[in-house]
Amino acid sequence: MTKSIVVLGTQWGDEGKGKIVDLLARDMDAVVRFQGGHNAGHTLVIDGHKTVLHLIPSGILNQDAQCLIGNGVVVSLEALKAETESLESKGVNVRSRLGISPACPIIMPYHELLDHAREKAKGDKAIGTTGRGIGPAYEDKVSRRGIRFSDLYNPGLLAEKLEETLDFHNFVLEKYFDMQGLVFDRVLDDALQLGACFSDLVTDVSGELHRLRSEGKRILYEGAQGSLLDIDHGTYPFVTSSNTTIGAVCTGAGVGPDAIDYVLGITKAYTTRVGSGPFPTELFDDIGAGIAKRGDEFGATTGRPRRCGWLDAVALRRAAHTNGLSGFCVTKLDVLDGVETIKVGVAYRLNGELIDVPPQNPEAWDHLEAVYESFPGWQDSTRGITQYDDLPANAKAYIAAMESLCGAPVHMISTGPDRKENIILKHPLD
Ligand code: IMP
Repeated sequence: MTKSIVVLGTQWGDEGKGKIVDLLARDMDAVVRFQGGHNAGHTLVIDGHKTVLHLIPSGILNQDAQCLIGNGVVVSLEALKAETESLESKGVNVRSRLGISPACPIIMPYHELLDHAREKAKGDKAIGTTGRGIGPAYEDKVSRRGIRFSDLYNPGLLAEKLEETLDFHNFVLEKYFDMQGLVFDRVLDDALQLGACFSDLVTDVSGELHRLRSEGKRILYEGAQGSLLDIDHGTYPFVTSSNTTIGAVCTGAGVGPDAIDYVLGITKAYTTRVGSGPFPTELFDDIGAGIAKRGDEFGATTGRPRRCGWLDAVALRRAAHTNGLSGFCVTKLDVLDGVETIKVGVAYRLNGELIDVPPQNPEAWDHLEAVYESFPGWQDSTRGITQYDDLPANAKAYIAAMESLCGAPVHMISTGPDRKENIILKHPLD
């Protein structure tokens, strides 16, 4: 019987993971974040009320689910405080259900300054980061000079570590970027004060997951961003700084591969991307503008307009394979209602040659030309449909084409933003 589900984005993020996690969380005992940070923006709509979560697992709206933040997540204390307060002001009990690994790297104020300074210095070569300090925080983790969640509760050790790391970052801020450095006492006091708000949340996440599994509990692992933003498998260097693909579940939560029974890959019925970087199936015409408008394609974290394009089956096939997907959930099918002809990128042309896998050197991404297959659209509305048989024939044919082109069966279809607007062909827990 399926006990543990992973939900992953298979494109460049913003696939609608939050809604699906929230939907599945109703049947879960625990929901776990394992990578990324508050660069994520998971939008949930329940009975018309919208909630956007950035750091706290999307299972928090299920009042019975335990929510865990694993060691792979970089934690901003300000974001954690703001999100906790906002949820609690809406009557959601966060503190009694949230646990955070002591090994989580902390996003410190200098990380955000460095993120902005670097992006500015890169000019038109900027990555288009969310500006949340995510990259610099992961760099500190890997360079072994990072501050961890547990350090907040050992003031002597925190001061010692901060002295060394702030000295390094102030040097870079002042001498390389010609900016003002940060004052040690202020940074230390703020970290201690903010940390004090969360001392009761420190949890051995790996140990807790082991305990939950031994009791036969159901666990959902909630991915952030998407496969094409993965630091190793994505469109490097236009990627985020964590692994967004399946392996991150094990390393970022502290579980073995046997803890995973089912992997759900979320894809929009088309493609979007925020920030810079290659996007072979991008649309620059009225069709793209129409999709952006109907799909309300603005970033949930930064409010930036999302670039829109056709589905990219080459990239999705790779995501299905890299993540070992059990099934796809196709979101925002209703946004394609009324589009006369729908295209899907099925291969790329690179220097005159046809390829059906992503190129292996990152520079080649800029020179890809998408090769399309066309499908007739549908004129009827699919908004809110919950039964597969009620879909227009051409929408069914499009879903069938996605299945055969993208390397995994379609198990769920989302037909609107609300928790209730879904077609479930195979429930991941069945
Ligand atoms: P960072 O994660 O803020 O460093 O940004 C690196 C790249 O990942 C940028 O292109 C961002 O726009 C993108 N990115 C990060 N988080 C998300 C997300 O949740 N959705 C979509 N794109 C994201």
